[in-house]
Amino acid sequence: MQDKYKNSTVYQIYVKSFCDSNGDGIGDLNGIRSKLGYIHSLGVKYIWVTPFFCSPMADNGYDVSDYRNVNPMFGTMQDCEAMIAEADALGMGFMFDMVFNHTSDEHEWFRKALTGDPEYMDYYIFRDNPPEWTSIFGGPAWEYVPSLGKYYLHLFDPKQPDLNWDNPKVREELKDVVRFWKSKGVKGFRFDVLNRVSKPGNLTSLPPGNAGAYCKDGPHIHEYIQELVRDTGIGEMITVGEMASTTLEQCIKYSNPSGSELSMCFNFHHLKVDYKDGGKWTLMPPDLHELRQIFTTWQEGMNAAGGWQALFWCNHDQPRIVSRFGDEGQYWKESAKMLGTFIHMLRGTPYIYQGEELGMTNAHFRSIDDYRDVEALNYYRIMRDNGTSEADALAILGAKSRDNGRTPMQWTAGHEAGFTSGTSWLSIPDNYMSINVEAEENDPGSILNYYRELVRLRENYPVISEGSVKFIDTGNDKVLGYERALGSQRLVVLCNFSGSDETVSGVDIKGKVLIGNWSGSHRMMKPYEALVILEG
Ligand code: GLC
Ligand code: CA
Repeated sequence: MQDKYKNSTVYQIYVKSFCDSNGDGIGDLNGIRSKLGYIHSLGVKYIWVTPFFCSPMADNGYDVSDYRNVNPMFGTMQDCEAMIAEADALGMGFMFDMVFNHTSDEHEWFRKALTGDPEYMDYYIFRDNPPEWTSIFGGPAWEYVPSLGKYYLHLFDPKQPDLNWDNPKVREELKDVVRFWKSKGVKGFRFDVLNRVSKPGNLTSLPPGNAGAYCKDGPHIHEYIQELVRDTGIGEMITVGEMASTTLEQCIKYSNPSGSELSMCFNFHHLKVDYKDGGKWTLMPPDLHELRQIFTTWQEGMNAAGGWQALFWCNHDQPRIVSRFGDEGQYWKESAKMLGTFIHMLRGTPYIYQGEELGMTNAHFRSIDDYRDVEALNYYRIMRDNGTSEADALAILGAKSRDNGRTPMQWTAGHEAGFTSGTSWLSIPDNYMSINVEAEENDPGSILNYYRELVRLRENYPVISEGSVKFIDTGNDKVLGYERALGSQRLVVLCNFSGSDETVSGVDIKGKVLIGNWSGSHRMMKPYEALVILEG
């Protein structure tokens, strides 16, 4: 397998909210260029940047209308080329985000399909009598086109028609897109909802249900991924597939050590431990017992089979982790550092989502008018229609909406948190006055400086980047612990996921403290304490 990135960390940028260079309130590529020095200072080697290609922005760029051009809202092709070259000069590589499960309905392929051109209709999934399926963003998954007398499938928004990967021409087109960006010097790729692209063969005979549940890890998925990787020659690059609702067995194949598929996968089981009865639009504290079980199964299972995981708490689809599994109040700093430690000492490749390294919190919006995300707006309507009160619906969005992770990066305590000289497209939480890059640069004990140390440790200690992993029984459900081992070195990681003092029993800890967020006594874990001990 391509080992070169094993001791690296990836930084994720959500372009629209990272840095605005021209005062229109929208982050852009030149904004990214102006902050490459900052990103470099974190010690990361790769930067995953969310889609900035031409798009009507129905799903903030995950609805692409032209894969080979830059959305003018974000800049130009020259800006993009300069951005790639400047990162390269600093020893960092970009991973671009390929949204290949669907296009925008404004893509020329779909426009041609809508005219009834059979060649392009076969790029998508049109049916006469489709089953009653609901889409992932809420509402029906099949949209009727009166002029054609047919329905098309969209797992997400109606403005995101699903591509027909069973058509070899579609697969060729997509390979060409990968080759195009590869030739521009991109160092890796993230593939959006990749395990949903191979659809079940008998679509129309399936019963009513959730389209997402039917379309995952489909019959030809491994074949299609292998073909894509082989024919574009990206087997040696860093690649990550977003794999929704998948299994350990599938992810072992997706990230198999032979390099015939991808370097690694994202999966989301650990981010559903606060879903009551599996439902996202509910409120529940995280189930720590389940969290421990999920990490044990995935970490040890991937380790045993040689698979590789992308490690993360945050991305542009998730609420902020400090607000979610940590504590925004009294233990803000401690809990943010503990959560970072837990992820960064695991086996796999850690991803830092912009602002996570500052301990950025949820948005704390007060009104539905503050929200912008299509999913949040749809589910607000659905909840209200089902009789949920306004206050309850807003409380749920306040905890679960994707907009929580999309508020602008907090650079300074100045105007609009230093994100724009104009007015930001999405409001910024008031805490930017204290939670911002400038303030944390000046504090040696800041979350930002702690994250830098986590990145540095992975680079310097092979036991972290390559060691085996095993979860340990700490005798306390609130304290998660694991061991990493390589040769004679052994690392013990203990993380208290609660705001109270907790005792640990039966854990053999001797050695030196490699990193921690309290000057702990080793016997009593302080609130949200993280302790990493190196032996050997
Ligand atoms: C992925 C993206 C998300 C997007 C969806 C549809 O889950 O991360 O932002 O809405 O795919 O493309
Ligand atoms: Ca801008």
